[in-house]
Amino acid sequence: MTDSYIIVTGASGSMGKAACRNLVRKGEKVIMACRSVEKAEKAREEILAGEGLGDACLEIKPLDLCSFASVRAFASALGDTKVKALFNNAGTMPRRYGLTSDGYERACQVNFLSPLLLSALLKGNLTPEAQIVNMVSLTCRLVGTDTLLTERGGKDYGQLSTYARTKRALLLCGLEFSARSGIRVNFSDPGIVNSSMISLDRWFDPLADVLFRPFCKSPEKGVQSALLALNYNGSGKLFTSSGMKDLPRSYSRDKDKAALLLDKAMECAGFSL
Ligand SMILES: NC(=O)c1ccc[n+]([C@@H]2O[C@H](COP(=O)([O-])OP(=O)(O)OC[C@H]3O[C@@H](n4cnc5c(N)ncnc54)[C@H](OP(=O)(O)O)[C@@H]3O)[C@@H](O)[C@H]2O)c1
Repeated sequence: MTDSYIIVTGASGSMGKAACRNLVRKGEKVIMACRSVEKAEKAREEILAGEGLGDACLEIKPLDLCSFASVRAFASALGDTKVKALFNNAGTMPRRYGLTSDGYERACQVNFLSPLLLSALLKGNLTPEAQIVNMVSLTCRLVGTDTLLTERGGKDYGQLSTYARTKRALLLCGLEFSARSGIRVNFSDPGIVNSSMISLDRWFDPLADVLFRPFCKSPEKGVQSALLALNYNGSGKLFTSSGMKDLPRSYSRDKDKAALLLDKAMECAGFSL
């Protein structure tokens, strides 16, 4: 066992939990970064109940990505803990428009601003060979790059379209973050996975549960692409169920927009690189 940790955000959720289980099985030391410690404790117990995992190193630390103060508190509680990988897995797709206490639309802060802030704050903890894996989505390809993302109000909000824009922003700014910081960053797109994320809080959810959910991947299957990414020693690649891919050209065409968006994210969340 090495003395450095892998941090998994949203570790009490479906794919987060599956990621932690796989990582501790391989002997990794893992920090579960979760907004609900109670939910995280249940998830931890479940994982450690697995065969031969009783003495695995699986710690819980509170992290609410809706709050920049919580992200800062999480990073400073790490002290000089060495981190070999950060898996920015947590995500949200709120049914309705709403603001966080920092004044940003919730999906924008949870899926985009806070993962970048966390990545930047952990710079001093990351080992030289460390990397960051950002969980993105196939929906990234269905929208354009929105350089006004952090300024959008309620009239521009769409549950799926805003979610997709935040994931596209995370991907593009992840590339730009890597170029500026020298930290390796890769991306994982799990496909469509049977989790609470695919409930849209609409009248047709029960119907979708019967007709659609059974055909989605299990969280265990969905997270395999992220686990591949966490094992990769290069940077800037997209991992899907069919393995490692180069990113589509449309992303490199948006490099200037990515630079602008990252500057805005740095200003909103208050970090530098
Ligand atoms: N399911 C899919 O089809 C699919 C497809 C593409 C990408 N993804 C992405 O995969 C990732 C994992 O999703 P999942 O499918 O495993 O869904 P999930 O079970 O709902 O997991 C989402 C996780 O994010 C956490 N989270 C939400 N808001 C947070 C906040 N403010 N602070 C900290 N953590 C927060 C949740 O915390 P709680 O445990 O407290 O609820 C949960 O652990 C997400 O980024 C999602 O966008 C999912």
